[in-house]
Amino acid sequence: MKTQINKRLDELKIKFKEYYGAEPEVAVNSPGRAEIIGNHTDYNLGYALGCAISKSTIGLFKKREDRKIIARTTMAGFESEAIEFSLDKIERDETVKWGNYVRGVARELLTAHEPIGGAEILVDTNFSTSGGMSSSAALELCIAYGLMSLAGQKIESEAMAWRCKKGENSDLVQSPCGFLDQGVIAFAQKDKMVFLDFQEPVKVKLIKADLARHKVSLVVVVDKTVKRILGESGYPARKKSCELACGKLKIKSLRELSGKDFEGKKGVLDLVTRKRVEHIVYENERVLAAVKALAADDMNKFGRLLSESGKSALDLYDLAENTPELRYLMEAAQRLDGVLGARNMGGGFSAIILALVKDEKMKEFEKELKTKYQEKFGEKLEMVKFEVSQGTEVFTNW
Ligand code: GLA
Repeated sequence: MKTQINKRLDELKIKFKEYYGAEPEVAVNSPGRAEIIGNHTDYNLGYALGCAISKSTIGLFKKREDRKIIARTTMAGFESEAIEFSLDKIERDETVKWGNYVRGVARELLTAHEPIGGAEILVDTNFSTSGGMSSSAALELCIAYGLMSLAGQKIESEAMAWRCKKGENSDLVQSPCGFLDQGVIAFAQKDKMVFLDFQEPVKVKLIKADLARHKVSLVVVVDKTVKRILGESGYPARKKSCELACGKLKIKSLRELSGKDFEGKKGVLDLVTRKRVEHIVYENERVLAAVKALAADDMNKFGRLLSESGKSALDLYDLAENTPELRYLMEAAQRLDGVLGARNMGGGFSAIILALVKDEKMKEFEKELKTKYQEKFGEKLEMVKFEVSQGTEVFTNW
């Protein structure tokens, strides 16, 4: 793994020199995340389990004497556009939208009185940004750690995660995400899953996940031609409907509702809202059960809970609305031999799933799912088999 990152770093350093005419001073590796279970529970102050994946955004940074931030990406189609702004005047840009994530983080750091200064930045991402693996939070944390490190500041992962979330929620990005993505990526450790209890102050527990010992692997399957931007998808409407339900049920968050409470009170909710609330209430219970199953080395149960979570997210929370590719992918994967569990991942409305597959069946799984999907949608799937990885880190030796 390290060697693959080192190779990417070496190539990126050459490009950095071409663009900026000097060597970078700081390098950061910031992974994407897998939402293992706990879907749309974060903004309802419930529970979730996630981990960092082996795919990441790497950022190289160099100080500038002035207060300008100049950032570039190697991403195909965007290489020629540098984003540029002054730390003294940060405004949303409608043309090159990825730059707004950088602006959002920079502004939050300044608001928190962090002494950051101008910088030249180059980022490289080796995973799909079509939605579901949290490329946005990976970028945000990369920028936060890079700017803080250039300024010689101590990095507190929890504070960084909150600043990045705030930046994403702000008028600059306009994405009403919860704390899951930034929390998982900031706290993640190699071979450990991150359990988050979102009721503030957020509680974090790291849980050992030795998948190799059970001869199973996690794989993300994605059709990156189905793209969505969180703030422009059905996500804000789902969030709103949970808030309205809380009003009706006279509670502060859906976390307060147990299964029993829900069954007793559901009559006051209209059908669509009732289904959405049902998803959240039982999803929280599933997360706790999944953590227990993992601790008890019960991979079959763990897998079953993942599939139940997926069914609930699509049937009750309607996350495949206008996205037939997602339902197809999940249900086809669940039926394949050797699959212990499969579910949608993240905000929804993009064609991405997470599957827990027996190692001995992985090759067949990949082949069969690709063939089936291609027959139906004529698109090529990408399979991202990953290790449970380390969260965002500044390289010390590179
Ligand atoms: C996206 C959001 C997260 C979370 C998930 C769904 O990834 O950014 O905050 O709500 O969707 O669980």
